[in-house]
Amino acid sequence: EKGGWSSFMAKEVAEQPEAVANTIRGRIQGDDVIIPELDGLDELFTGINRVIITACGTASYAALVGKYAIEQWARVPVDVELAHEFRYRDPVIGDDTLVVSISQSGETMDTLMAVKYARERGAKTLSICNTQGATIPRESDAVVYTHAGPEVAVASTKAFSAQITALLLLGLHMGRVRGTLASDALEATAELQALPEKVAQVLAEETEHVSQLAGWMADTRSVLFLGRHVGYPIALEGALKLKEISYIHAEGFAAGELKHGPIALIEPGQPVFVLVPSPRHSALIHSKVVSNIQEIRARGARVIVVAEEGMPPCCRMPTR
Ligand code: F6R
Repeated sequence: EKGGWSSFMAKEVAEQPEAVANTIRGRIQGDDVIIPELDGLDELFTGINRVIITACGTASYAALVGKYAIEQWARVPVDVELAHEFRYRDPVIGDDTLVVSISQSGETMDTLMAVKYARERGAKTLSICNTQGATIPRESDAVVYTHAGPEVAVASTKAFSAQITALLLLGLHMGRVRGTLASDALEATAELQALPEKVAQVLAEETEHVSQLAGWMADTRSVLFLGRHVGYPIALEGALKLKEISYIHAEGFAAGELKHGPIALIEPGQPVFVLVPSPRHSALIHSKVVSNIQEIRARGARVIVVAEEGMPPCCRMPTR
């Protein structure tokens, strides 16, 4: 039931704080991330020298965020492979490979076939899934469930947030098991605990602002999304969501790619969303994104930034 919401999608967007909280629940003990479902399965993480994350669509963008988390904390190389590309070539995998699949439904055929393919070749398999008892987790050695609740809308929203949450938890769990966690893990664990409340705050404070922006952009024919680091997959997801929901052409880029071609698309009036990472995370990445904003503003783009509260004026919403 939509319960008063205009659509299932609006309802599911609003359910994100709960989805994220439910995905975290029971998986942080003291300062440590311990995923109980992975108890006794340390060999999935210790006897490997590479990880491949495979998924389709939105889940593949969550996978790209997972790459940062797992490489950062578990210090093992991670590749992200679209499931429908992975199984149609002859990838180099074996028992030293952990193949992590991500699927909201747990039934996506391309992802399922990629998991089966990986297993047949001796890889270890772990799935991140939102649907209890679905086929993909049944075909995997281990499963970490996202607890986002049923996702009815075709466009994935709260499941994506829960997938990213689960991947951050997985990165921290793997790092602990592998003994590779650095001091930033402690802060990340604390930040994870604070996340549901922050998501709720953004939804409460920004929803009206975002609807105004939507009105402002309704006649636009094309929208670009730029990001760096984890902002890059989020830019890809933003573009996918806009295409699916509004039928407006949208493209996501890594901000650093701009000067290698896509800057040609920046004409006066072109709306560009820029994901500005927090300088607390990396002053360098932050300043690079700020200089990208200056570049595209100089070409007349209408820049809409998605940034933390308290960002400098160059990062704030344009006034009209
Ligand atoms: C986009 C969307 C799709 C799915 C993709 C994978 O909004 O919903 O891109 O993310 O089809 O689906 P699952 O996660 O069920 O394997």
